[in-house]
Amino acid sequence: MATTPSTTALAREARRVPVPESELTAGADATSIGEAREAAKGCHRCQLWRNATQTVFGEGPETADVVFVGEQPGDQEDLAGKPFVGPAGRMFDSTLDDAEINRRKVYVTNAVKHFKFEPRGKRRIHSKPNAGEIQACRWWLDKELDLIKPNLVVALGATAAQSLLGKAVAVLKMRGEVIEREDGLRVFITIHPSLILRIREPADKDAERARFLQDMRKVKRMMGA
Ligand code: URA
Repeated sequence: MATTPSTTALAREARRVPVPESELTAGADATSIGEAREAAKGCHRCQLWRNATQTVFGEGPETADVVFVGEQPGDQEDLAGKPFVGPAGRMFDSTLDDAEINRRKVYVTNAVKHFKFEPRGKRRIHSKPNAGEIQACRWWLDKELDLIKPNLVVALGATAAQSLLGKAVAVLKMRGEVIEREDGLRVFITIHPSLILRIREPADKDAERARFLQDMRKVKRMMGA
């Protein structure tokens, strides 16, 4: 008698399915962010595309001096197809405004370009991308950096720092500092704006927001330097 495979067995099997060569090279010859964004729409480099609504690619001018890298799209970004448009995005925007950084003049993207979540009733709860997912998606981040060639990259939180530097970084200890990669790219370390949103105590929240603003003012001073 034929047996029905369990959901776990199916998930395991799905992870084993090799990614076809054509999907691993999609976007390799992209010569603009527009072409890369188009190619990334069908990305199957990891399994996160299965449950997400769409690929959320980076946004901003290809001539940007600075690239900001977050973790992954959230619920609202997944639906809108744009990075940092939800609650963390609003915190990011208001802090950039206070630091007099024009968001329209910088490029904003994520280390992982599909929303990873756990369904809980009608809600979709953010779930952290794992090392394999970060590594698989690094291909697209490298492509964006290669095309834009920024003077500075800002890692917003641990996932972005891990993707950009290839190793775990103690973000709270290193925030405000610049690490130069072997290829000469300067990576500024700071927190993810969602950290501020998670703080309940108003005084602590204000203090963390002020520290984040201080970091963004440092970025502003480094822009074009
Ligand atoms: N958090 C991120 O890291 N990126 C987004 O685009 C939104 C929330």
